[in-house]
Amino acid sequence: SDIEKGTYPHFMLKEIDEQPFVMRKIIQEYQDDNDDIKLDKDIRKAMKKCDRVYIIAAGTSYHAGLIGKEFLEKIAEVPTEVHVASEFSYNFPLLSENPLFVFISQSGETADLRSVLVETKKLGHPALTITNVPGSTLSREANYTMHLHAGPEIAVASTKAYTAQMAVLAILAVDTARAKGIELDFDPMQELGIVSNAMEALCDQKEVFDQIARDYLSTTRNCFFIGRGSDYYVGLEGALKLKEISYIQAEGFAGGELKHGTIALIEDGTPVIALATQEHVNGSIRSNVQEVVTRGANDCIISLEGLDREGDAFVIPKVHRLFTPLVSVLPLQLISYYAALHRDCDVDKPRNLAKSVTVE
Ligand code: G6P
Repeated sequence: SDIEKGTYPHFMLKEIDEQPFVMRKIIQEYQDDNDDIKLDKDIRKAMKKCDRVYIIAAGTSYHAGLIGKEFLEKIAEVPTEVHVASEFSYNFPLLSENPLFVFISQSGETADLRSVLVETKKLGHPALTITNVPGSTLSREANYTMHLHAGPEIAVASTKAYTAQMAVLAILAVDTARAKGIELDFDPMQELGIVSNAMEALCDQKEVFDQIARDYLSTTRNCFFIGRGSDYYVGLEGALKLKEISYIQAEGFAGGELKHGTIALIEDGTPVIALATQEHVNGSIRSNVQEVVTRGANDCIISLEGLDREGDAFVIPKVHRLFTPLVSVLPLQLISYYAALHRDCDVDKPRNLAKSVTVE
């Protein structure tokens, strides 16, 4: 079927706006009539049986995998490693006794992932593919599949698939926790509903992000994203988005690592976008911001309701502490979009990039 942009100037903007609906769709699809999680029983068994999860992915899906590790370890107590597919394929680490491989891929066609899957199958290890395309190669060749239900993603820069991947990984983690008898003090579907509302609120304030893009990014050569913990992982995704579509050299760094080298790059006016959405590191990330501001950086702090301070560029609505990445990435997606627009870049089809990479 033909996917249309409708009244949208770009698929990317349309897909950013679709994220609240994708969240609701995921809630629907993964909930049964008793409000329990609806999941293939064999996936549940495989998750319970494994002693370690190996997440294999590339690009934006790799960044979703980093958050997936947080979910699986903190919610389900399953040790998890996250690997870039193209590295893993020729450099297998020492594997645990009962590994479960989780392939995260929007397209389900990425060749770097497939070459890992071929090898892990030879070794007899089970594989779960999490994808937006159920009939895709990685989906067919794995033992199990989970569907993202994000609808077709056309823009090369991935947005709604990334948030859908995190949501599905959270559901997988909660299901595993329940199967293992771990008591949880939150309902994932309720929290995803709150996430959906928060996303909607952000999508209604596009002019703010347009203005941030104008103020910070219309002429700069580079930009840094900093954060700690999951904010750092979301910063990596923010930097990738900005690079992909605006061609600004952008990098994400762990706040505490700046002083070990990168801070040398800070000059008068260098934009530094900081995420401050985690209570336990709110003080430390803010002192990292102070360190760069002292050296001339133009700081842009995106914080969370309740953790915000005067001068923050944007405050996102409060959501469950584990789910903040699903919301905090939206400002970064929108800022990248408007930066690309102001710099006259081809938002939906950036140079040198393909939506799915089927060569190794
Ligand atoms: C390409 C795309 C990226 C994407 C990556 C992984 O490089 O340009 O946006 O994140 O592939 O794609 P996948 O379909 O495996 O998630």
